[in-house]
Amino acid sequence: MHNVTFLKSVFTAVLVLGSTVALAGPAPKAEKTPVAAPAPTDAEQVAGLQKMCADNAAAIQKRQAEKSLFERLGKEPKIQTLAEKLFGAHSKNSKIGHLFVKVQKEAFVKNVTAFLVNGTGGKAEYKGKDMSAAHKDLKITNGDFLAAGGDVKGAMTEMGYGENEVQEIVCALTSFVPVVVAQK
Ligand code: HEM
Repeated sequence: MHNVTFLKSVFTAVLVLGSTVALAGPAPKAEKTPVAAPAPTDAEQVAGLQKMCADNAAAIQKRQAEKSLFERLGKEPKIQTLAEKLFGAHSKNSKIGHLFVKVQKEAFVKNVTAFLVNGTGGKAEYKGKDMSAAHKDLKITNGDFLAAGGDVKGAMTEMGYGENEVQEIVCALTSFVPVVVAQK
């Protein structure tokens, strides 16, 4: 037999023998099937946001002392664009859109704009309802809040805002959860 061919067959024999021995050996320990962590509930996700906001409160305060969020958002005109985008996104959102069917876009945009201007360090005359009155009949859940928050992030990302500005708006909104969310 040609040398190379001979070597090849010895090699193959060793391989076959090796795997046979391996097969005959002790059964490999059953691997632990990784158990996926259960998805966090809506309440847990909202609690997570509250914690994130508390953890970042000092940093947020420092940034706002250096330059108001109002200015970083691009003042009233940009805030109005954001309010308009929010109305559009909330209306199209399959989870919360039903709440906006009868809402007058113009009044919503005007009131949300003034509310955000005041809340971010600008000055406007807010003529809307207080947060408890505006939301009490809507039976808003944590899931609704998360869905609305997703729209806020989406609209702000679309407008080119940075992470800090998104975080600060999300945390401003999250601070109203105890007033706005009626059911877990
Ligand atoms: C938690 C933070 C929130 C803040 C700071 C907030 C802020 C506001 C403001 C300023 C208005 C205008 C009030 C007026 O026109 O008199 C408003 C109206 C409204 N909000 Fe919110 N909102 C929040 C969360 C939500 C959520 C989670 C939903 C539903 C998913 C929601 C649904 C609505 C609806 C449907 C209106 C119109 C009510 C009406 O015209 O009678 N809001 N909100």
